[in-house]
Amino acid sequence: MDTFVIDGPVRLSGSVRVSGSKNASLPIMAAAILGPGKSTLKAVPRLSDISVCGELLGRLGCKFTREEDGRLWIDSTVIDNPVGEYEVVRRMRASICILGPLLARCGRAEVSMPGGCAIGDRPVNLHVKGLQALGARIHLKNGYIIAEAPDGLTGTDVFMGGPFGSTVLGTANVLMAATLARGRTTIESAACEPEIADLANCLNRMGAKITGIGSPRLMIEGVEQLQPVEYEVIPDRIEAGTFMVAAAITAGELRIENCRLDGMMAAVDRLRNMGVTVDAAGAGCVVSRRDPIRPADVTTQPYPGFPTDLQAQFMALLSLAEGNSVVIEKVFPDRFMHVAELNRMAANLRKEGSAVIVAGVPKLIAAPVMASDLRASAALVLAGLAAEGTTTIDRVYHIDRGYERIEERLNPLGARIARENV
Ligand code: EPU
Repeated sequence: MDTFVIDGPVRLSGSVRVSGSKNASLPIMAAAILGPGKSTLKAVPRLSDISVCGELLGRLGCKFTREEDGRLWIDSTVIDNPVGEYEVVRRMRASICILGPLLARCGRAEVSMPGGCAIGDRPVNLHVKGLQALGARIHLKNGYIIAEAPDGLTGTDVFMGGPFGSTVLGTANVLMAATLARGRTTIESAACEPEIADLANCLNRMGAKITGIGSPRLMIEGVEQLQPVEYEVIPDRIEAGTFMVAAAITAGELRIENCRLDGMMAAVDRLRNMGVTVDAAGAGCVVSRRDPIRPADVTTQPYPGFPTDLQAQFMALLSLAEGNSVVIEKVFPDRFMHVAELNRMAANLRKEGSAVIVAGVPKLIAAPVMASDLRASAALVLAGLAAEGTTTIDRVYHIDRGYERIEERLNPLGARIARENV
């Protein structure tokens, strides 16, 4: 198991390029199921989650190859085993997004219920509700969701909001299933995340008829069939946001290439509020900080609100602000595994229900810490860059799920991160 050894503090400067989006790639890979034949996806990041998704598709009967240049081929001509096995699903919850496309293509799908998760309770009731509304019969057997629609699906109006707002992968599942349903489907309270818009654009390229893309009302006119596609996924806004915090927390200056600021307004707004400079520059931006960090309140919400996937990273930054901040988590109310670890590095964080009160400290002090989930581990790397001394982070595989060799991207900018195999 790999460990990071990080020497700090450092000041980052230089230029870094953002990879393709993990959370756009995963549902788009699942969409390849809907268009029998060979699809080519570009800019898919080299991450362990993408490999797991490839394995998942392979077990269905698809062929999956990846080229050195980042292109990825999925041949979905044959799907003879429409089963998402527990052995794979338990390694990656996003596997659930094969449920809708498999059901639409094969008239039947069995997908293991995803299990527990470090970021909290993650039910799939809204996925099930949406597919049932399209006419699927669904029951649970031996831990598997069994979905059946032998005579196909039928378009309808479906409300996809839940107690914590819209659902990203739930919207993806129902959207994909509805493309092949008879008649028209309207998804109300659809997730508006750029990754869902990217999926919808890709589906339209495959021959689907989706309108309202990017809005909370998606309208889908069902079609008889979809074709394979060649498609390039959008840049990863969460990786971009993580690099922005890296510039800010180290009082550095980074040119972040391949980053779309228009999908990141909530994060950019908070950074500017803290006294961080973010300037658009070409197909990216330049982020720098010269002044002390000002405290700021952050509340996570579905898009276009502040993304939960940047909450931990921003908390690391706010730990060093001159004053008190409040971070409220409204998407995953228990997503605070990083709090105790940051406190081990001399942060002053106090959790109160689904909020954390961040009392700014003048410096963080290195410590051995443990990565618990993807974004929590990113926060610990950021804290390690700014902390005095040598931070060691165990269980680095969490970070490898969502950031492509992060140490090889940050070290040329001035970071001192060593990957050790212990
Ligand atoms: N929810 C329900 N019922 C459902 C589905 C979700 O109540 O059937 C609740 C969840 O418990 C949560 C809220 O709705 O409180 C939002 O969850 P959502 O379904 O939107 O999350 P997801 O689709 O499973 C994706 C990302 C996550 C990201 C969330 C929120 C992918 C592969 N995953 O998950 O990304 O945090 O949306 O934006 O796209 C990450 O990349 O680190 C990550 C966890």
